[in-house]
Amino acid sequence: MAMFCASSLLGSCYSPPFPTRLSTQRLQRGLASPPFARCSGPATPASMVSAGGGCAPVQAMTVERDLHMAAGDGKHSYAVNSIFQRKTVMEIWPELRKAVKEAVKSLSPGTGSTMVAADLGCSSGPNTLLVISEVMSTVRAHVRDNSGAMEVQFFLNDLPGNDFNLVFRSLEQLHGPVAAEEKAAAAAAPCYVAGLPGSMYTRIFPCQSVHLFHSSHCLIWRSKVPEDLSNGTYVNAGNIYIGKTTPQVVVKLFREQFEKDFELFLTLRCKELVSGGRMVLTFAGRKRGEMPMHGGVARVRELLSEALQHLVQKGHIEKKKLRSFNMPYYAPSGDEVTQLIKKNDLFDIEDIRLFESNWDAHDDSDGYTVPDCSSSAENIAKIIRAGIEPLIINHFGEDILDELFMAYTSILEKDLEKGKAMCPVILVLLKKSKH
Ligand SMILES: C[S@@+](CC[C@H](N)C(=O)[O-])C[C@H]1O[C@@H](n2cnc3c(N)ncnc32)[C@H](O)[C@@H]1O
Repeated sequence: MAMFCASSLLGSCYSPPFPTRLSTQRLQRGLASPPFARCSGPATPASMVSAGGGCAPVQAMTVERDLHMAAGDGKHSYAVNSIFQRKTVMEIWPELRKAVKEAVKSLSPGTGSTMVAADLGCSSGPNTLLVISEVMSTVRAHVRDNSGAMEVQFFLNDLPGNDFNLVFRSLEQLHGPVAAEEKAAAAAAPCYVAGLPGSMYTRIFPCQSVHLFHSSHCLIWRSKVPEDLSNGTYVNAGNIYIGKTTPQVVVKLFREQFEKDFELFLTLRCKELVSGGRMVLTFAGRKRGEMPMHGGVARVRELLSEALQHLVQKGHIEKKKLRSFNMPYYAPSGDEVTQLIKKNDLFDIEDIRLFESNWDAHDDSDGYTVPDCSSSAENIAKIIRAGIEPLIINHFGEDILDELFMAYTSILEKDLEKGKAMCPVILVLLKKSKH
């Protein structure tokens, strides 16, 4: 059963950045188009800067408003191109199961048996359902073993631009035909799912109301591009993330933004978790000793910067447009994460590990050499495109998309001759501290 309460659909904790009149118009249009359309849209606010590629006026990026994965289930959508992230979700099953079992124990005996769980940055597509079904099968195994009963309220959180409609439509797959013994377990532990739009860098739950948080591939996203970069005080030498030519001062800005965001995230979640509640967090990071401009995350982003620079050289993107585009992103090292958690002192680290995932999730071959650089390049480009396309459209316009990702694919293909593109992923399992 899916619960769509009015407050969650309208995002009670989310303050819309637009005047009520415009928000109402958008609601009437079914939120189908962005507030400021690209080639034919409503009036252009004065703060907009002119777009390269000759198409449209665009606004400076606001993460809460503009960030979402490619919507729908078409060929460029996140739903179809998220196998890389899916593999991560499945890699951490043991820790997730452990956290669920501990979270169940944190249900207070007096207040009944409703467990509240949330997936932060759930996006849309098969991965979203996978997390719910893994949590529920662990809960139901517990209920079966203990001949008990409990209910689960499962919140799916993401930014308001996420394709929640696709998520809601796909929920019926959770309630497909099941074997007889599973029916009994499902009846003993029903799951009620609700959508919760809002930024995880704001409060999204009442105090001490959640037993389990899960979040996968979301914490790499920053709440904003560092201000001194977005306001032009510093520039990033044609890079869209940290690259080899990024000035040290800019590297520091990205790192400081991560520190602020991550500490805020821990503080907010600590308030929302019950005593003994658990968090399972996975996100792309860096291996020990790797500088921010090195490693698997920087590599694929730097090649995308190269593709954008290629379009600048061809005159298809204005140089100043590229200069003003930076990804709200930071891939931390395990040590940076550990230090912040310890400094913050709100959580105990129950587990932390780093594993590597091939950016080409279709390539399961052993060794370091890429068996087929051309198909690997295509696969990686699709994954990256599904995650970044809306931000690219918002800043550069839609017209450059195909050319950009063709250039990116061929740059990737050449680069893969050096060896596989691996992405370090950090997993951390946290327990809310007693004090
Ligand atoms: C790469 S997707 C991961 C989706 C899914 N968890 C998975 O593993 O396939 C990252 C998701 O995080 C969401 N996200 C980024 N920043 C966020 C924020 N501040 N609050 C909530 N969600 C956020 C994005 O909108 C996106 O849907």
